[in-house]
Amino acid sequence: MDRERAKEILSQIDDAASGQPAAVDVRKRVVKVLNQVPSYNWVGIYLVRGNDLHLDAWSGPAATVHTTIPIGKGVCGFAAKSGRTEIVSDVSKDPRYLECFANTRSEIVVPILQQGKVVGEIDIDSDDLNAHTSVDREFLEAVAAKISKFCS
Ligand code: SME
Repeated sequence: MDRERAKEILSQIDDAASGQPAAVDVRKRVVKVLNQVPSYNWVGIYLVRGNDLHLDAWSGPAATVHTTIPIGKGVCGFAAKSGRTEIVSDVSKDPRYLECFANTRSEIVVPILQQGKVVGEIDIDSDDLNAHTSVDREFLEAVAAKISKFCS
């Protein structure tokens, strides 16, 4: 992801959230917009429900079996617990990793916060090793901030 492309996609995220749409529609649009990035092979939004993360919206070639993840479990649950972005550059080397797709090589999970509290997260799987850099982190944290009010 380069900064120019990140800017373009951020403006598409603004468009997805404009015109007072239903929150669920914003989330559905956002996963589709993010899935256009070549290295973002599978994109999901999970929402916190009690002690679990529930898969809410996703875009990619296949469904995941991990539609409910306890907070604290997997890379997703870890990020939900800490409230901090997780970048896993090689999923085969991270014991926390819960496999969804055989071809995934790296992953980034970005918490969505409301007043400092985790209400959900963006989870992105990539088929390339080391796909996510600090530019992806900054970009996706900006996306998370933009969509937070649609993620209760
Ligand atoms: N890999 C995640 C599980 C979710 S799937 O990637 C869609 C994890 O380790 O928590």
